[in-house]
Amino acid sequence: MSLKFKVLNELKENRGCFVSGQYLADKFNVSRGAVWKSIKSIRDEGYKIESVTNKGYRIVSENDVISEDEIKHYLKEYSNDINIIIYDSVDSTNNMLKRMFIDGIPNNTLIIADEQTNGKGRFGRSFYSPAKTGLYFSLLIKPEFDTSTAVLITGVIAVAICRAIETLAGKHPGIKWINDIYMDNKKIAGILTEASSGFESGKFDYIIIGVGINLSTDNFPDELAEIAGSLNSDISKNRLIGDILYNFYKIYYSLPDTEYMKEYRKYSILINHDISYNIENVTYSGKVIGIDDFGGLIISNSNGITTLKSGEVTIIDF
Ligand code: BTN
Repeated sequence: MSLKFKVLNELKENRGCFVSGQYLADKFNVSRGAVWKSIKSIRDEGYKIESVTNKGYRIVSENDVISEDEIKHYLKEYSNDINIIIYDSVDSTNNMLKRMFIDGIPNNTLIIADEQTNGKGRFGRSFYSPAKTGLYFSLLIKPEFDTSTAVLITGVIAVAICRAIETLAGKHPGIKWINDIYMDNKKIAGILTEASSGFESGKFDYIIIGVGINLSTDNFPDELAEIAGSLNSDISKNRLIGDILYNFYKIYYSLPDTEYMKEYRKYSILINHDISYNIENVTYSGKVIGIDDFGGLIISNSNGITTLKSGEVTIIDF
């Protein structure tokens, strides 16, 4: 762990209180000059740190700056795999990655933005992405495995998000097949996975996994007010992104093993519920009786048993 990270952690643990330079130097067995250098580079990342003679350093309480170093700390053994780029504001982190792919970017590039001016959802919808109150990021991967395995990626990130929220916030998230994360009957996060495939290779050139999480948004536009909610937890953004991606890579590197699907089913909020869905403009209804290892939704109704591979469903017995 770098000195900068240790100093930052100590200041965060003592949020609101002064920590003296001498205390930090003694604790980490370094000179006061080294502590000062760390404070300077922490400030360069955007953290506001007060310094008062004879008292020491104090982190200003609302600081939750997205930091590459901190995210990498939580990524543990996967930290060397990833290339992180942080923006204040972009149109859409998914679109940004697509543009960058054309210019050539490394596998495992992660883009994080504090705000999106044109955040995208599924089916051409927009994703409300105001500054400061949400987390918006996209990861570009170039999977080696064939497309039939690669289509599992949305389920992998959904489980990774739920694991992180459950462990860090102690809350009970659920997955609404296939791309939405719910908590207390409100959608708190969405996933948009986009891919480009090579016709002959049978593989994807890239997959972009976009994740938007409402952390503390409370003034949703009217059309979202009924269905959207927020995580409302004080976990740091860096910890949340770091843990989500740590869990993502753990499962991703185990593919095509589908053990994680057991967790997907555990988090599913659809199993044993009545739903409606559309196929070619006809609306059907049925009971969800399971989810197969390829992420297909198994539905039972008067016509028998159907497996839905993609699409959107509405829960009708909430
Ligand atoms: C949905 O709810 O339909 C999916 C929403 C996905 C939103 C995320 S935010 C980061 C990434 N960039 C985008 O433009 N969309 C995804």
